[in-house]
Amino acid sequence: MPLVGTREMFKQAYDGGYAVGAFNVNNMELLQAIADAGHEERAPLILQVSSGARKYARREYLTHLVRAAVETYPDLPIALHLDHGDTFELCQACVDDGFSSVMIDASHFPFDENVALTKKVVEYAHRHNVPVEAELGALTSTSDEPGAREAVYTDPDEAKKFVELTGIDSLAISIGTSHGAYKFKGEPTLDFPRLERIQALLPGFPIVLHGASSVPKNLVDICNAYGGKLPGTRGVPEEFLARASKMAVCKVNVDTDLRIALTGAIRKVFAESPSEFDPRKYLGPARDAVREVVRGKVRLFGCAGKA
Ligand code: G3H
Ligand code: 13P
Ligand code: ZN
Repeated sequence: MPLVGTREMFKQAYDGGYAVGAFNVNNMELLQAIADAGHEERAPLILQVSSGARKYARREYLTHLVRAAVETYPDLPIALHLDHGDTFELCQACVDDGFSSVMIDASHFPFDENVALTKKVVEYAHRHNVPVEAELGALTSTSDEPGAREAVYTDPDEAKKFVELTGIDSLAISIGTSHGAYKFKGEPTLDFPRLERIQALLPGFPIVLHGASSVPKNLVDICNAYGGKLPGTRGVPEEFLARASKMAVCKVNVDTDLRIALTGAIRKVFAESPSEFDPRKYLGPARDAVREVVRGKVRLFGCAGKA
């Protein structure tokens, strides 16, 4: 099976009341871990590549590694997505490279400029039948005060207008998630009423949740037990993600949890076997740890068993 577009995946996810996991790929071990987990759990997968990943692993290597995963699991629906594309040229290059989905992230620009750049990407990508994700709102958590939230979270009316003006296929929104391992200052909260309003204004339209790692204590503890320094981490509680996945959220982005799992497993080998220098002896357990995390995620998002 060739790469699958996200349009088909999202239609099924929306109708089925689940979300597809989107996992960041930077190297072979991460890719194998994600693909193996998808295969074991019979879960559709979105493999996503950031501009940094593309520079690190180099575009030819990444493209061929992803092709190898698709050939290894020909029955598994796999999409290849550009994560946080920041220029028209990068989106164009990824469309030309055969990506089956791209994101243009112009959310840091004023509304009109965000619309203009997003529209330009949509025009190009749609000519090649590639769906486009864009973002509206600033990805950060803030206090409960309505004024504070209005300043950064996605405005539902603007979201509707943005979708109509740009012709995008999915929208990343801000309702309190953020990237990395330190997501909340106080108690974690997501603005579910806002998500409900967006869903009501855009019925049937796929919503994307970035910054959705849960930063699980057990993974952080492994890192810290073997020399890591990750104090006071805070992720998105799993029950929030399960709830959002049943709503309009069709894509849930996870990178940080994979990084922490990988790093913890490597730290453990280094600490317990300081004379070990065969990379397979620490990258192997690291790959296993990432695979188990991805298996847990796809079950949580409800996409296990859907492929
Ligand atoms: O949202 C960002 C992803 O975690 C990718 O991060 O730009 O460091 O590859 P990166
Ligand atoms: P996390 O940092 O929460 O894993 O989010 C990843 C992400 O949104 C990638 O686009
Ligand atoms: Zn993101």
